[in-house]
Amino acid sequence: KRVGILISGRGSNMMSLIAAARELDYPAEIVCVLSNRPEAEGLSKAAAAGIRTGAFDHKSYGSREGFEADLDKALRAAEVDIVACAGFMRKMTAGFVEGWRDRMINIHPSLLPSFRGLDTHARALEAGVKLTGCTVHVVRAELDAGPIIAQAAVPVLEGDTSERLAARVLEAEHTLYPHALSLLASGRAVVAGEIVQLPQGPI
Ligand code: GRF
Repeated sequence: KRVGILISGRGSNMMSLIAAARELDYPAEIVCVLSNRPEAEGLSKAAAAGIRTGAFDHKSYGSREGFEADLDKALRAAEVDIVACAGFMRKMTAGFVEGWRDRMINIHPSLLPSFRGLDTHARALEAGVKLTGCTVHVVRAELDAGPIIAQAAVPVLEGDTSERLAARVLEAEHTLYPHALSLLASGRAVVAGEIVQLPQGPI
């Protein structure tokens, strides 16, 4: 499967996907990395890894639809099968999301459906949860919602700040995302309505 990654910033999850996809038996290849921020650090990291990059500065568009039309065109020109959002910080219109129905995924730093949106770690600490984590899910028009492919749990430890917790969850993200993408790309994970069916036995 051909995968396009959407980023807005640092791109550490993107790098974990690029590294995983280099393995011989990985069922997906990363064919392009696109950003809505031309200055995103991840773009130079992707270019250094030999991946085609593109930047579409959302601020230079008059409408969200115009921006998304160009993004969509670039993804289709690269013959992308699966879109992987990795720290992509733009809300998407229902039209764009529907165009990639069941073929666009995202990683979110909480155990969804808890803590959708921003500042997940600060809110998890405030709520006093003892377990948090990260989720890879199929993208739906509603923000941080959609069929769940995989989750990893991370304990909240005594003395955690949101930075310390974020760093621990990020480590889990870097293992979870390549795993979840391989489940979908290989056909082992199947989107059935609003549920993702996984194979029996150890995955
Ligand atoms: C990650 O925590 C991801 O879950 C969230 O934004 C952060 C992106 O980090 N959506 P990076 O750009 O992958 O380093």
